[in-house]
Amino acid sequence: MNSIDDLMAINESSDLLRFSTAGSVDDGKSTLIGRLLHDSNNIYEDQLKSVGKDSEKLGRELDLALLMDGLKSEREQGITIDVAYRYFSTPKRRFIIADTPGHEQYTRNMATGASTADLAVILVDAENGLLTQTKRHSFISALFHIPHIVVVVNKMDLVGWSEERFNEIVEEYKDFAMRLEMKDITFIPISALKGDNVVNQSDNMKWYEGATLLHYLETVYTGSSRNMVDFRFPVQYVNRPNHRFRGFCGTIASGIVRPGDEVTILPSEKTTKIKSVIDGGEYIDEAFASMAVTLETEDEVDISRGDFIVHSGNHPFVSDDLEAMMIWMNETPLKVGTEYILKQGSRRERFVFRDVTFKINPEDLHRIEADSLQLNEIGRVNLSLFKPIPYDEYHKNRSTGNFIVIDRMKNLTVGAGMIIKKSKKQTSETRSGNRDSNAIRNIFPQVGQVSHSDRCSLMGQVPKTIWLTGLSGSGKSTIAFALEKKLFDLSKPCYVLDGDNIRSGINKDMSFSSEDRKENIRRISEIAKLFNDAGMTVITSFISPFEEDRLIAKEIIGEERFTEVYVNTPLDICQERDPKGLYKKALAGEIRNFTGLDSPYEAPDGPDLEIRTVISSVDQAVEMIVDYIDAGVVEV
Ligand code: ADX
Repeated sequence: MNSIDDLMAINESSDLLRFSTAGSVDDGKSTLIGRLLHDSNNIYEDQLKSVGKDSEKLGRELDLALLMDGLKSEREQGITIDVAYRYFSTPKRRFIIADTPGHEQYTRNMATGASTADLAVILVDAENGLLTQTKRHSFISALFHIPHIVVVVNKMDLVGWSEERFNEIVEEYKDFAMRLEMKDITFIPISALKGDNVVNQSDNMKWYEGATLLHYLETVYTGSSRNMVDFRFPVQYVNRPNHRFRGFCGTIASGIVRPGDEVTILPSEKTTKIKSVIDGGEYIDEAFASMAVTLETEDEVDISRGDFIVHSGNHPFVSDDLEAMMIWMNETPLKVGTEYILKQGSRRERFVFRDVTFKINPEDLHRIEADSLQLNEIGRVNLSLFKPIPYDEYHKNRSTGNFIVIDRMKNLTVGAGMIIKKSKKQTSETRSGNRDSNAIRNIFPQVGQVSHSDRCSLMGQVPKTIWLTGLSGSGKSTIAFALEKKLFDLSKPCYVLDGDNIRSGINKDMSFSSEDRKENIRRISEIAKLFNDAGMTVITSFISPFEEDRLIAKEIIGEERFTEVYVNTPLDICQERDPKGLYKKALAGEIRNFTGLDSPYEAPDGPDLEIRTVISSVDQAVEMIVDYIDAGVVEV
């Protein structure tokens, strides 16, 4: 077994568990893996003897970490393998460990291992507690949506097997993990050195009633983490042994396929039907995620390596414009504007990074303005491909939502990305649907010499857009102008974009039809984005009655900058207030399409903030908004 692809090809049945291990220097990871292998009888006699001798030479008891060192040097002398995969098995399960050999190498491992890992073992030294490294690993595990996290608190022998210390670490970790999207976290106190709770139950920690690490690894349920809904088949190669047969070979990334299924080829969008599904020379009735199969189609459609075969009616996105979370893993920092190669399965496409939106401080998960990413840093980026590719959002589909970045010159993997959503540009284009796609192709946005972070430091702030939505007369404008005054007094450069003002100028050609309201909001969003790019905070005050339009606004402006505030005032109160006498006119039939009367208002489903003007004063509303934007933390 010598390539990652081969490893990936091992059938992902439920009796196989892939997990990654991550720890900091000296927290005993080698010892833990050594202990796991040793106590589960996965070490050969001769290996054990040689470790025994080495330990003796060093005057130590049997030092299982030496076993790992031995394997490591073997590896270094032998074939080059950039990820240290290790196998072992018990009668219950087979395991593949994606090990993280060095302190810096973990990102590389995680990039290749984590997007398929079922579980991550995160080591914490009981004496040292949570280190930045622990937090970074946890953050990466969450980013990769690894379904199960096991926090192993090691070296319990050095803290006197203290339950109190264990609980302290558990609490600290939970506190940190609260801000991450982790579905399942388990804590196990162990001593890898002494062997407590690794394979055998500890006699020293009777207070711990949970499973040992191995028992947990053997029994954790992994079935539900695979996407069996969205059929995605990236074509690896076309098999054409003679003129009668043409099969498309590859590994099913997700979903299920059966003969007779109607399918679409992407990016060409040609459609056909599956004629047969072949597994190892046998015709079968169905095949599912992670099986390597050959598909025959009914028609002679053009399909080449790298294309996707998907079910018609369940397509991934196709775009040349992506937004992703990126882990950088090279000494040479990420460079905006430089050409790299994106590798997604067997597909390789050229691209450039358009910008870095922010990076994340692993300590507190706050966002930091950034223009680049250094080694091991994680941030959000936008990239432009030379050709469109099919993809899914990573959180929906781990296999078609991740990619790696290759440095063209050095032919080296330098980063790993997870696609977080379809891009702003694509969404606004397809949704507004009125752009001439040929014209846009000949447009080349220019980049100036002043960086965004320079602008931010000049302005003394990270600019935001506070988007107020609500009925006419709900109090949006009053709150918007009071908020503007407040921020101004706090020396935060800001500006209000208000419905009636905008509609008297740049948008004076807009009516109140649904289409015009959509275009009204789209233009305002583009303006808000420009203001934000220039470093200015924007407060908008528009009815913006349609959920979809507000979603587009969020996409144009950027999720990280956008705060949706629902100014919630019941219709009858707005009608009673009627500050401009418009409700009266609308009821008299003088105005048509009036929001709340003969045109709908779709209240936000989950606004970032809701202000109920019947209970909050204007000052309280302003205070709530200021508090909210001050507290911004990252969600993954
Ligand atoms: S939006 O629906 O496109 O977001 P916007 O906030 O720009 O509306 O403009 C709403 C303002 O226009 C209202 O505050 C009101 O003063 C005025 N207006 C005039 N006609 C209408 C109408 N038919 N519906 C809603 N507002 C109207």
